[in-house]
Amino acid sequence: MKFHILTIFPEMFKGFLNESILKKAQGKGVIEIKLHDIRKYSKDKHKKVDDTPYGGGAGMVFTPQPLFDCIEHVKSKAKARGDIPVIYLTPGGKRLTQTQVERFAKKYDQLILLCGHYEGIDQRVIDSLVDVELSIGDYVLSGGEVPAMVVVDAVSRLVPGAIGKEESHQEESFSKKLGRKKEYPHYTKPAEFRGMEVPEVLLGGNHAEIERWRRKHLR
Ligand code: ADE
Repeated sequence: MKFHILTIFPEMFKGFLNESILKKAQGKGVIEIKLHDIRKYSKDKHKKVDDTPYGGGAGMVFTPQPLFDCIEHVKSKAKARGDIPVIYLTPGGKRLTQTQVERFAKKYDQLILLCGHYEGIDQRVIDSLVDVELSIGDYVLSGGEVPAMVVVDAVSRLVPGAIGKEESHQEESFSKKLGRKKEYPHYTKPAEFRGMEVPEVLLGGNHAEIERWRRKHLR
């Protein structure tokens, strides 16, 4: 899976991409992440990417030119097997769910993630080039960078080979196998800690009973 991240703050991604599962998955060549600095595509002599909104009001709006040029460039260079959807991260978008994450991981081999800022982007970019408007929750962040990281993380975990054991995401919260419910509680050693005991059934080796207990404790 190849992720193209279109942003005016590419530096924000450095730490995030260079740790843990994402670092390993990139090392193994299972995922690839390409950062594209939108500002570099601006034809303005000061590399401006925003302007005041027509009709007045507070805030600034991303101008269409740098976004059109950047998206067209990325699409023309990408050697994808099929379509590459353009996903615009915005609080007004459709709420991201695990089902949608699974769909992205299964259906595509490349994704374009467009990080917005200010009041938003010129509507003509959305009308012509955006396939999905996506929100990570009903609150407003200062930009689409953190939401883009959320999408990269959630989708990457489902790409075959990204996570060591295949089972580790089959039985996790919101998975189909668990009926889209939240996972059962987990316990590890010691069996008793500060007077709190691990449920008896989990200490024995009766797998059918353990399974029954786990199903019963899905939330
Ligand atoms: N940009 C700003 N806030 C956002 C949110 N909640 N989801 C997606 N993109 C955003």
